Amino acid sequence: MDSYRIERLSTGIPDLDKIIEGGIPKGFFVSLTGEPGSGKTIACIHFIAQGIKDNDKCIYVTTEESASSIILQASQFNINFNKAIQENKLIIIDALMGGESQWSLKSLDLESLIDKIIEAKKSLGFGRARLVIDSLSAFWLDKPAMARKFSYQLKRILYKWEFTIYATSQYAITTSEAFGWGVEHVADGILRFRRIIRHSKLHRYIMVEKMRQTQHSPFLYEIDIVNGKGIVFIGKSEERREDVSLPSNVKKRILESKEREKEII
Ligand SMILES: Nc1ncnc2c1ncn2[C@@H]1O[C@H](COP(=O)(O)OP(=O)(O)OP(=O)(O)O)[C@@H](O)[C@H]1O
Ligand SMILES: [Mg+2]
Repeated sequence: MDSYRIERLSTGIPDLDKIIEGGIPKGFFVSLTGEPGSGKTIACIHFIAQGIKDNDKCIYVTTEESASSIILQASQFNINFNKAIQENKLIIIDALMGGESQWSLKSLDLESLIDKIIEAKKSLGFGRARLVIDSLSAFWLDKPAMARKFSYQLKRILYKWEFTIYATSQYAITTSEAFGWGVEHVADGILRFRRIIRHSKLHRYIMVEKMRQTQHSPFLYEIDIVNGKGIVFIGKSEERREDVSLPSNVKKRILESKEREKEII
């Protein structure tokens, strides 16, 4: 199929769109992985803000922050989520606070999550939709071996509802993979965020590690998070991938200490 025939959804970050042929192919399940504070949640906020502009039905599931924290964070980048909620363009499903409202998720299991998402989609109406699950790791904290099966089920069921999905997951430094085995194989795309300290300064990077049906850039890009704007691309990084990952001897030592911990338990 010619690439121009693929319907793509803008990520809300113009420079990111440029390196993935214009956007995320409709219906994709994209995994965003990276260290704490590397920019995953903010990238999700951009994705939803763009959805609101494009008249997509938008759903944001938040497990690590409350709905009000997400609304506040968005407002710092001049994005008005409250207005979108009032206009029935956005529903934020709060899985952290466990309150009594219609859009709070009381238990962190896959079935409740899928039911709640479908209920929200019905409430928003027919049409193209965007879904953020921030973070998906929260649903298999006590059973990481289920991660691949869970993400597969999620993708299969939600595809029918016209969703394009962003799912964040924490990054396991020891294995250099997303937390939970095999999610990266199920995902149609992987946006890898990195955060390192170099010369006493915090640096952040993004790399498109995978995007099916897309001739994406193979480079690492340095990014910044700017008040009032959000994620801004600084440019192609001169760093090599090895420079921003842990040296193999350090990884080996962490793994060995984990094994010792298991023996003690
Ligand atoms: N208004 C702002 N102006 C500038 N930088 C900000 C602003 N708000 C947040 N940040 C930066 O963004 C970081 C948080 O980014 P984000 O929430 O996207 O991280 P994350 O990858 O989702 O982390 P986690 O895995 O812990 O959820 C903060 O640590 C801060 O450095
Ligand atoms: Mg986050």
